[in-house]
Amino acid sequence: MNQLNGIDYGTKKSTSEVMISLEIDGVAITVPQGTSVMRAAAEYGINVPKLCATDSLESFGSCRLCLVEIEGRRGYPASCTTPAEAGMKVKTQTPKLADIRRGVMELYISDHPLDCLTCPTNGNCELQDMAGVVGLRDVRYGYDGSNHLKLEKDESNPYFTYDASKCIVCNRCVRACEETQGTFALTIDGRGFTSRVSAGQKEDFIDSECVSCGACVDACPTATLTEKTVIMMGQAEHSKVTTCAYCGVGCSFKAEMKGNEVVRMVPNPDGKANQGHACVKGRFAWGYATHKDRMLKPMIRSKITDPWKEVSWDEAINYAASELKRIQAKYGKDSIGGLVSSRCTNEEGYLVQKLVRAAFGNNNVDTCARVCHSPTGYGLKVTMGESAGTQTFESVMKSDVILVIGANPASGHPVFASQMKRRIRQGAKLIVVDPRTTEMVKSPHIQADYHLKLKPGSNVAIVNALAHVIITENLHKPDFIAARCEVDSFEEWAEFVSLPENSPEAMEEVSGVPAADIRGAARLFATGGNAAIYYGLGVTEHAQGSTTVIGIANLAMATGNIGRDGVGVNPLRGQNNVQGSCDMGSFPHELPGYRHVSDSVARAEFEAVWGCTLESEPGLRIPNMFDAAMDGTFMGLYCEGEDIVQSDPNTQHVTAALEAMECIIVQDIFLNETAKYAHVFLPGSSFLEKDGTFTNAERRISRVRKVMPPKSGYGDWEVTQMLSNALGYPMNYKHPREIMDEIAALTPTFTGVSFKRIDELGGSIQWPCNAEAPEGTPTMHTEEFVRGKGRFINTKYFGAGEKVNKKFPLILTTGRILSQYNVGAQTRRTFNNMWHSEDRLEIHPHDAEERGIKQDDWVGIESRAGQTVLRADITERIQPGVVYTTFHFPESGANVITTNSSDWATNCPEYKVTAVQVMPVAQPSEWQRSYNRFNREQESFAAEKMIPRGSELSTSK
Ligand code: SF4
Ligand code: SF4
Ligand code: SF4
Ligand code: FES
Repeated sequence: MNQLNGIDYGTKKSTSEVMISLEIDGVAITVPQGTSVMRAAAEYGINVPKLCATDSLESFGSCRLCLVEIEGRRGYPASCTTPAEAGMKVKTQTPKLADIRRGVMELYISDHPLDCLTCPTNGNCELQDMAGVVGLRDVRYGYDGSNHLKLEKDESNPYFTYDASKCIVCNRCVRACEETQGTFALTIDGRGFTSRVSAGQKEDFIDSECVSCGACVDACPTATLTEKTVIMMGQAEHSKVTTCAYCGVGCSFKAEMKGNEVVRMVPNPDGKANQGHACVKGRFAWGYATHKDRMLKPMIRSKITDPWKEVSWDEAINYAASELKRIQAKYGKDSIGGLVSSRCTNEEGYLVQKLVRAAFGNNNVDTCARVCHSPTGYGLKVTMGESAGTQTFESVMKSDVILVIGANPASGHPVFASQMKRRIRQGAKLIVVDPRTTEMVKSPHIQADYHLKLKPGSNVAIVNALAHVIITENLHKPDFIAARCEVDSFEEWAEFVSLPENSPEAMEEVSGVPAADIRGAARLFATGGNAAIYYGLGVTEHAQGSTTVIGIANLAMATGNIGRDGVGVNPLRGQNNVQGSCDMGSFPHELPGYRHVSDSVARAEFEAVWGCTLESEPGLRIPNMFDAAMDGTFMGLYCEGEDIVQSDPNTQHVTAALEAMECIIVQDIFLNETAKYAHVFLPGSSFLEKDGTFTNAERRISRVRKVMPPKSGYGDWEVTQMLSNALGYPMNYKHPREIMDEIAALTPTFTGVSFKRIDELGGSIQWPCNAEAPEGTPTMHTEEFVRGKGRFINTKYFGAGEKVNKKFPLILTTGRILSQYNVGAQTRRTFNNMWHSEDRLEIHPHDAEERGIKQDDWVGIESRAGQTVLRADITERIQPGVVYTTFHFPESGANVITTNSSDWATNCPEYKVTAVQVMPVAQPSEWQRSYNRFNREQESFAAEKMIPRGSELSTSK
């Protein structure tokens, strides 16, 4: 239950534009048609007692506490389930109603422990409140009869407790799990007096289908479902609104605090991206922020074989600056560079790229978006003119057909997946293009109309085949194309996709998808009403990643599915601030706002404000930096918030490049895998310790607010500023708001953005936000495309860069799961490990049997790049010929296997296709043995620097 969440109106808001008037307790009331009597009263400050109703859920009408009298009607209808009608005269307070309500409460309380004073939700319990509201003074039945007071607690979930003795069977949790989350994990088991909430088939929560999103905990009006941190720490004293630091959904939370300690993170009902919902990561997995592994002191060493030396901030910064200057003096100006993390705020990212361009004097800056969504930037820019998704998340509620390609939002973007599933349950059609049978293909009350289970690497073949059907069967929208697109480019493209080589029948061979399914999906997409495309890294992380993004834009334009609610092209961004880090100019070829470094007008604007001369040639991309390091020309790297050793492909190539460099400066909250190769370690700050903004997959800029002081003494932006000053390029910002003001002054799509404006507009703004769009832009390309006319581009299919052969006959594809996050640096340090404690290799039963592999066997995986060993998980989720793993644990070395093959346009690695062989083995790989030795040595170099055990919060592992 949410203590600090303001008014609960009891039932949902009606969206009707027809207004009706009625009278409640003598007050004249006007509300939209479809409003419940309960909500109509509450909107005018008249609060009807309630227990089973809450405004985030459909009304249910089970507790009978909200009864009212309506003139001319018999009996006492429940106000939560009775719609307000024009001319109604309602009384909410009469002696008879008071009598009934006291009777109802008496029954509840007679079967409820009377331990209010020691109850963890004392002061924040709706049952307690209602007992007071109805004036309950006595319980006539006594406590000796049958009751539930001795029922045992279910403590199996690491984050919340289910205390059945306190349950009033109001059904709110069951409805939250169904309506809000869409998991359907809970039921009411039994009837009448014996009925109780049950997870699955009377299982413990941890063994059930529950995904620990917390929606039921938020909905519970009593202490039955309660966060363990609340039980341990007590109720919060104050709260601040901030933004989740995990994924690109960008959920808004209230950080509920006691002093400087977080008691719990409660999803913000006013959050525009999440509307009061959350997933297990943002809701519960925040304990890493105070984990014992946090590194809080700056450290330096001259060689990576030396132990770390703890030093003052001044010494660390001066050492880092002197090393960078020494390297530039010896190897030239271009011998150093920096990496911007998509985990950091916009303001921090902006400062790092400014540091590189202005203080280092080159354009050697890149971001982790290189390895995830750089093809999105390229593909959407060349077709539509803007490197960003076109819609709000809410837009999906107007979609009639949803095409999900190369994405598993149920794992990667869970809060948005819940919303998408809600729309599908309402009747929207679903097409899933994915090599695996993910939760999006089939889950409770969800069944994809088409699952195009393609072979990894054949996205372009499928997109072309879909387009072939649309064009050859005349299912495209000529009017939209004529009005909005370059007609010449359309005609050329239409001719190209109509070629027989692009037909579903021709592509069946390479994609493995039956032609009839492709034809059916194409017809549905083109003719089923509003059609929206959602895609993820299963599209971008391929040798033809940019080609597929272009193909997706072609599909949307050809069918007129751009520029209004319910349609669009929507890249599901991986990390919290991928969109922002790209917007902030973190790529070597682009200044903030996607202006090319060769654009002399743009450069002049930045030079005038920054007081420096900027290079006009693009700098090095991440893979070029590694190659240059091996050639001896790139010798120094400033890496803020990135763990390239674990996240980038071909680990052995990455570590060899890092070993070749002379100064690596890592700024992070943990001594991550990359820091083990570093010479300077600068402690970073967690999202709870800083002010700034993140930009989510909807282009929504949301505030991140400091709820506790930085544990190391400085926010990340201050550290970058100190380094810049030590290098002789002055930066003197007093607060991140000043950095945003500078961004706004220099970036045409951000001119209306400021911290103040974000607050005025309810906590977030979708860019572009400028004079033409002072309240931001929810939907892009409404009247015309950003580039003017939409441009079709031919997308010839070439297949994956990685080819299978006799030696490497299987395709490895990688992805992630709900409970862990990317390199796992944060989630591995929480109880989320209870759901996923190791990376495993999924393999089809046929491939397993051929190789003599049994469930849980250790198996060696070998590719052209390297070898590693994991345990096998035999499953039909994966198709024959394909194996799959996650990459959340460094010791599993998934990226030891992935190769240097990459997207032709952007160098985004081809993580999704690696040719491998898999065999049973009895011992770790050579790489794993050497990793373990190196790791033990590095940990011993820093062991005494860890903060003392016991100082972490209870949600950390
Ligand atoms: S667990 Fe809470 S929300 Fe669920 S039925 Fe019991 S009291 Fe209601
Ligand atoms: S935590 Fe979420 S998934 Fe689990 S039972 Fe509650 S609502 Fe359902
Ligand atoms: S969906 Fe993403 S942003 Fe929302 S709580 Fe989960 S991880 Fe955080
Ligand atoms: S609140 Fe209306 S019946 Fe429970």
